[in-house]
Amino acid sequence: DKILMVEQILSEFRRNKEELKEVMKRMQREMERGLRLETHEEASVKMLPTYVCSTPEGSEVGDFLALDLGGTNFRVMLVKVGEDEERSWKVETTNQMYSIPEDAMTGTAEMLFDYIAECMSDFLDKHHIKHKKLPLGFTFSFPVRHEDLDKGILLNWTKGFKASGAEGNNVVGLLRDAIKRRGDIEMDVVAMVNDTVATMISCYYEDRSCEVGMIVGTGCNACYMEEMRTVELVEGEEGRMCVNTEWGAFGDNGELEEFRLEYDRVVDESSINPGHQLYEKLISGKYMGELVRLVLMKLVNEDLLFNGEASEQLKTRGSFETRYVSQVESDTGDRKQIYNILSSLGVLPSELDCDIVHLVCESVSTRSAHMCGAGLAGVINWMRERRCEESLKITVGVDGSVYKLHPCFRDRFHKVVRDLTPHCDITFIQSEEGSGRGAALISAVACKMAAYML
Ligand code: BG6
Ligand code: GLC
Repeated sequence: DKILMVEQILSEFRRNKEELKEVMKRMQREMERGLRLETHEEASVKMLPTYVCSTPEGSEVGDFLALDLGGTNFRVMLVKVGEDEERSWKVETTNQMYSIPEDAMTGTAEMLFDYIAECMSDFLDKHHIKHKKLPLGFTFSFPVRHEDLDKGILLNWTKGFKASGAEGNNVVGLLRDAIKRRGDIEMDVVAMVNDTVATMISCYYEDRSCEVGMIVGTGCNACYMEEMRTVELVEGEEGRMCVNTEWGAFGDNGELEEFRLEYDRVVDESSINPGHQLYEKLISGKYMGELVRLVLMKLVNEDLLFNGEASEQLKTRGSFETRYVSQVESDTGDRKQIYNILSSLGVLPSELDCDIVHLVCESVSTRSAHMCGAGLAGVINWMRERRCEESLKITVGVDGSVYKLHPCFRDRFHKVVRDLTPHCDITFIQSEEGSGRGAALISAVACKMAAYML
């Protein structure tokens, strides 16, 4: 009957433990290639040094400005870093969200950075601190090849950004130039970090075992503390440096071919960066809703859904938003939410249609959690092996709309990670108002170090 045929089609999304282990092993192979000097260039997983090190305790206290660019929202934040009686960190933040106009995302780099500077100026105005020259931490959630904490070139845009003239250029330089062009504000840009790194740091101040950061949101990525001697791109042997894996690009050398389905190929081909970020495209929020829509269209065409007829909206790319996936799977059994979503998309579903749509969402989001889990298990097992430890106790700081807002992603994901990491004791913590705090804390440490060196 219908449901059986639907389940048959959806079974393609299921990955068994052996397959997930294979994904994990291939991820580790690419990580190793990314770290090694002689294979780094061709590796799909770039393993970018961040110049965030396992550093001495202590930092400056005071006000910091933080920018957060690359997730769903662009934010400007004022972060007060201080110490209380127990000498632990106390951080207070005020933040404001700004939406980035489409033409700033896809126009020129100058337009984008002028817009960012304009938002900063507006923010400083509103908080009556325009006269101050504050240290600034910049969370910039794209692949950057760093030369130092405050210097690095954008390798390539991801996640729908496309501003021309940015790739290959020093991002901090672009920001400083835009600030200069305005002429009404002054900033001391002290650190630029990836969102995974900022997330890890913000959690580190609550839990000193936090040595991994992960984002499952618009994009998907992870960072972790690597032994300095293994980071061949940077000189030095002592201590650890945080490595931004940029694992979203895993698969770009063909490592995931047998796991990619027809829907994945369509999503990729109609994206702004075909052939790139293939692992991310199986997992993250930017693509999840569209994957669901493509499966629904397939079922319609096979006459298994909506009487074989889709509405114009459902036929339109991007109409099934990722947040609908969460809403469908939050349905309590009365199908009300599912019915409402589908009717807003112009179809009148039967009860069976609603159940089928639920199954489709579950299949796509479960695969996302499982594939992502295999990646993180790869990172954690790698860390345990590197450190030659019998067992590893570790905390992972996490952020991102898929992880935080989807009703079941988290549990499915945790289960796979734990299944694949024997001898590891893993704690997951969610970063709250993550990136801003993290970027400010790194800036505070950087300021202290700069003061030492004077
Ligand atoms: C936010 C962080 O909370 O999560 C950002 O502050 C990060 O730095 C973002 O990029 C990721 O999630 P999403 O869902 O907004 O892409
Ligand atoms: C994309 C970016 C990466 C970022 C991730 C999560 O994969 O390339 O830098 O960390 O999205 O926002």
